[in-house]
Amino acid sequence: MVMREDWVVRHLEVTGSTNVDAAELARAHDGQVVLVRADRQDAGRGRAGRNWASPMGGAWFSVGVPVRETELERMIAAPLVVGLAACRGVNRALGLAGVRGVEARIKWPNDLVIHGKKTGGVLCELVAGGSEGGRVLVAGVGVNVNLKAADLPGNLRFPGTTLREAGGRELDVSALVMRCARGMVRLLRVLAERGFEGVLKEAVEARMAWMEDDVVLDLGDGDIQGRIVGVDESGRLKALVDGRVKVFDSGEVRVMGRGS
Ligand code: BTN
Repeated sequence: MVMREDWVVRHLEVTGSTNVDAAELARAHDGQVVLVRADRQDAGRGRAGRNWASPMGGAWFSVGVPVRETELERMIAAPLVVGLAACRGVNRALGLAGVRGVEARIKWPNDLVIHGKKTGGVLCELVAGGSEGGRVLVAGVGVNVNLKAADLPGNLRFPGTTLREAGGRELDVSALVMRCARGMVRLLRVLAERGFEGVLKEAVEARMAWMEDDVVLDLGDGDIQGRIVGVDESGRLKALVDGRVKVFDSGEVRVMGRGS
């Protein structure tokens, strides 16, 4: 991951999706890190083609980093690494605001949860860069920062919350965005250079929600019970199911929270 240290940064009042903007900006500034942040999005994108509600008060931003051909394989774990950086940034912001006893954790593979409720999500996309054959990893993060519970959509498939609801106070969104974005770029560089196994994997496991707990795993065509035991060297979920460790990839399973 060779990139210039000077970032191209845009702060928009409103846009469709910062992921789309970051991809365009990265094409125009080949080899540079780009950061696009918006106060609100009117076509925010979630995973699996879902919408992502992005009203005022949230942190909606995307970072674009150039990726070399030889690093592509390692980028499989990028969503987890981005989630790790966002998790750290959010917890630092909560700590600096004096909020105690409230901690974001990583809900595998790319959500942030507080007390088991989703407070943020990650959408990573690999797009074409500005140069022939060049690629850019666009890492979009949405965090429900100063939103009230009533601002969250009513049709969520998984219970949601906001940092304001959980921590009882408003946070500085700009500082949170910059802290998370810097962490994302730094950790993505570590991933590109050294791979996921080792420090990154350990750091993710240390912050994973429901680690060593029994959870419900939604396999699309039905639920099973499993105990989360960690992630493998590519970031796939390891869970103990019927006495055996099984490995799941992110297209296969959704973690639905604590089981019975
Ligand atoms: C998910 O949980 O489904 C992922 C949500 C990702 C939302 C963020 S907000 C900033 C960036 N721009 C988008 O359109 N999506 C991501």
